[in-house]
Amino acid sequence: MSKEFETTKDILIPVDPLQRIIGQDQAVNVARILSRQKRHLLLVGPPGTGKSLIAQAISTVIQKPKQEISILQNQLNPERPLVEIRSEQQVMSDFVKNIQLGKIVSAAQVPTFVGEKLGFRCKRCGGLSSSSVSLCPHCGSEKFAPYTDKILDPYSSQLETPYSGAFRVYTNRIKPDGKEEQIIYERTPDGKVNILSQSDLRKIESLNKKTPRKVLIQLNRSTFVQATAASETELLGDVKHDPYGGHPQIGTPAYLRILPGAVHEAHEGVLFIDELATLVHLQKFILTAMQDKIFPIIGRNPTSSGASVRVDAVPCDFILVGAANITDLQHIIPPLRSRIKGDGYEILLNHFMPDSPDNRRKIAQFVAQEIIRDGRIPHVTFDSVEELINEAKNIAKTIDDINGLTLRLRNLSGIIKLAGDLAVLEQSEFIELKHVKDAVKNAKSIEEQVHEKYDNWWKAGSADHGFKSTKAGPETA
Ligand SMILES: Nc1ncnc2c1ncn2[C@@H]1O[C@H](COP(=O)(O)OP(=O)(O)OP(=O)(O)O)[C@@H](O)[C@H]1O
Ligand SMILES: [Mg+2]
Repeated sequence: MSKEFETTKDILIPVDPLQRIIGQDQAVNVARILSRQKRHLLLVGPPGTGKSLIAQAISTVIQKPKQEISILQNQLNPERPLVEIRSEQQVMSDFVKNIQLGKIVSAAQVPTFVGEKLGFRCKRCGGLSSSSVSLCPHCGSEKFAPYTDKILDPYSSQLETPYSGAFRVYTNRIKPDGKEEQIIYERTPDGKVNILSQSDLRKIESLNKKTPRKVLIQLNRSTFVQATAASETELLGDVKHDPYGGHPQIGTPAYLRILPGAVHEAHEGVLFIDELATLVHLQKFILTAMQDKIFPIIGRNPTSSGASVRVDAVPCDFILVGAANITDLQHIIPPLRSRIKGDGYEILLNHFMPDSPDNRRKIAQFVAQEIIRDGRIPHVTFDSVEELINEAKNIAKTIDDINGLTLRLRNLSGIIKLAGDLAVLEQSEFIELKHVKDAVKNAKSIEEQVHEKYDNWWKAGSADHGFKSTKAGPETA
């Protein structure tokens, strides 16, 4: 690659999150169709090739949700609360009734830290943007990532914990008469900030109380919901237990105990299920939810008082993005796969790309992106980028025995972060060649380290048990 930049600082990072995905053109094209046509997608590929990243990117390019879902008290049959779907206009008009109580200002007019907490202001560059966008469009960094007190984990994906900022921020101010007063900043559905005093808030709350309802799914919400195989409750919702069984005087009414599942939270958004195959028996529920676009919420613990409560027809019209490894594909139930195929796409991700000047440029773009995303490490010099490209070749050769540039980019990302930490330790302005070389050495997996230190697993195992490690095999000490 000819010297096209001095450091990665000179590399322009695309604003479009889909353009930040490198080497997966087919998946990116499908992602664009998906976001417009509301189809489903199964991404299959080795770890660290961008499955989660693609799912996230889709959620940032789809339309904003237009419905708010509430659970209403059913006076006649309290254990069968009702569902109410309100359009954006209805929510807004109700909201307008309330806002006369406070003062509405733009996100630029509130204190910086309030803007940050509400999700409008980027902590890194200070730029303002919509609270539902998690990557800052001005500098490309993760908007909600704290600068410090974060445990360094080069292999974790920060994108996997989307967060759209707080709804309310409480602050105190000293009034001219010396008394302290609480000020509440509240994010409005149209991206402004409502400034309220404590008494305003009480009035709003009492207004809301007139209709016994609970907003289950907010209008202003994240369009990315990740579900794990951890529990049925998390995926499908539940009804909280009440020791007083919803007794009218001392219990909590059933409609307040309804908890949405990930399928409901993903309504009008992306439901991302990593390792879809591990969901085993839950897969058939996903299938039903996809087909019906509604899913009842019931109490899932038979010994709980929630077991007698049921809310029918809670909407769950989501785009399913499932991820799986090639070997796990067989554990996805055929009707679910056929549903995805019939109404969407199955994509096998690339694990490498040919070594060409264009693709080398893409790796350089990737390096620049990782620096910005991390936010705590300096930019990389041209020579070091070349070294990282060589490492991308090495990884392709050692892991996949292929001549090309690896797309197992989490591995490369780990090396960039390690090199960055070394540069930070040395207070170096940039990540230099030596930092990358040292990082490559440090980034070796336990298997590689065992190979270097012990030659083979047999000897390593003997050392583990306090045996002498000799060529002849283990002997008791
Ligand atoms: N194609 C890509 N383009 C740009 N960055 C990528 C790409 N693939 C991976 N990355 C980088 O590697 C990190 C890990 O990727 P991601 O979490 O999306 O992988 P994954 O396929 O979901 O892995 P796993 O199977 O372990 O869940 C991303 O946060 C990103 O920094
Ligand atoms: Mg993933």
